[in-house]
Amino acid sequence: MSIFELFQGVFIGKGSGNYPTIEPFEYLETLGFVSDGRPFIRIEQKTKKTDGSTPLHQEVGYIRVLGESQLELVLVQPTGVAEMAQGTYVEDDTSATMEFRSIQVMSTPTAKPVTETLRTYTLTAGVLVFEFHMAAAQQERQFHLHSDLVREEA
Ligand code: HEM
Repeated sequence: MSIFELFQGVFIGKGSGNYPTIEPFEYLETLGFVSDGRPFIRIEQKTKKTDGSTPLHQEVGYIRVLGESQLELVLVQPTGVAEMAQGTYVEDDTSATMEFRSIQVMSTPTAKPVTETLRTYTLTAGVLVFEFHMAAAQQERQFHLHSDLVREEA
């Protein structure tokens, strides 16, 4: 299958996060991928508290697919942060992984500055695992998020 077929549809599940400067937290996530035949995938993510009461982080952007294994990512967030990243795509018999490393993270003047990000999306038998590391708040790049998602039935 191609990246466009595999990373297609809506995935839902639960995640947890941490960082040295904050308290650990858990969240519910909805992550959608849409392609229309052109060489990019629209990505849209929303999260909320585990009791469903409060929206948390969200982001929208595009994965640009450059040949079989090269990717780029442009992604914006309502916190005032925009990530530009380069990525790789690896697919074998059992799993498919997109990994992105930031080349530039831009922050608006009032945003909490983020200087570096690392994202991986690994799909194995319909289960999507997302991992996110960042450098922010004067900290070295390290873990912020992990989520386990499954494809939502149509
Ligand atoms: C699943 C998505 C995410 C969730 C649920 C989440 C949740 C949280 C929570 C609960 C906090 C602590 C309270 C707060 O400051 O609001 C936090 C802090 C923070 N997050 Fe996230 N976050 C997510 C994604 C991201 C992403 C993608 C970035 C960067 C590109 C990011 C950057 C930060 C920063 C910079 C802080 C502040 C750290 C500090 O004040 O020292 N977060 N996040």
